[in-house]
Amino acid sequence: MLNFTVTENYDAMSALAAWRVAKALERKPELVMTLPTGGTPIGMLQEMSRMAQQKKVDFSQAYSFNIDEYIPLKKEDPQSYYWFLDHYFYQHANLPVENRFVPDVLADDLLTECARYEQAIVDHGDFDLTVLGIGHDGHIGFNEPHATHSPVCHIIDLNEETIEANARFFTHREEVPRQAITLGMGTILKSKEIVLIANGLSKAQVMKQLFDCKRVDPLFPASFLLLHPDVTIICDQEAASLIPSLR
Ligand code: GLP
Repeated sequence: MLNFTVTENYDAMSALAAWRVAKALERKPELVMTLPTGGTPIGMLQEMSRMAQQKKVDFSQAYSFNIDEYIPLKKEDPQSYYWFLDHYFYQHANLPVENRFVPDVLADDLLTECARYEQAIVDHGDFDLTVLGIGHDGHIGFNEPHATHSPVCHIIDLNEETIEANARFFTHREEVPRQAITLGMGTILKSKEIVLIANGLSKAQVMKQLFDCKRVDPLFPASFLLLHPDVTIICDQEAASLIPSLR
């Protein structure tokens, strides 16, 4: 049974998620975390940045890994997920540059790069905290609905629905990359703690599906979270609006 917390609005969702990061950091200053991208986490990342600037939290010993990255965007490309985390969080916090990890999507051999990225996570003792967003099709990271899933870091072909949803961040739909490197489900599930955030009416259907799901379904990737003992789903009232018992 997944644990849902409903907040009044987006700002409250963001503040609560940032607070969870702060608490985890308080427990372990050398926190190893993986952070999501997309529209949902912007408020959380801004709140984390604010807390860092006000010296309420200290990221100086923490490690951060991108959950996913588009192939083949450069780190400096404003559409890349590295740029996103840099823009909304890294630039404003004291997390050392050498502690920020992202798959090298320009590597000659991407399969070797996936293995290298996975090993870097293992070498850091796996994640203490994973913060996830969720796609409309239930994808987490870029683990799209598929009959089979790779447990570790891998290359994924993006679904048309995901490309469509993410096109809003690009000038033209044709610019949206069709492939990405993503962490695998096994690595996400090895994380000691998982927080998933969702907001807005556009996520109401997928939140209802997640709330109702009782067993793991590879065609609904977020259902893998049922296998984890410490998952908190933080969503705002709009995202929870199709779940009568949470209203
Ligand atoms: C992308 C990312 C995911 C993210 C999802 C939801 O596909 N790869 O990590 O969770 O979008 O994005 P949004 O928050 O914009 O709805």
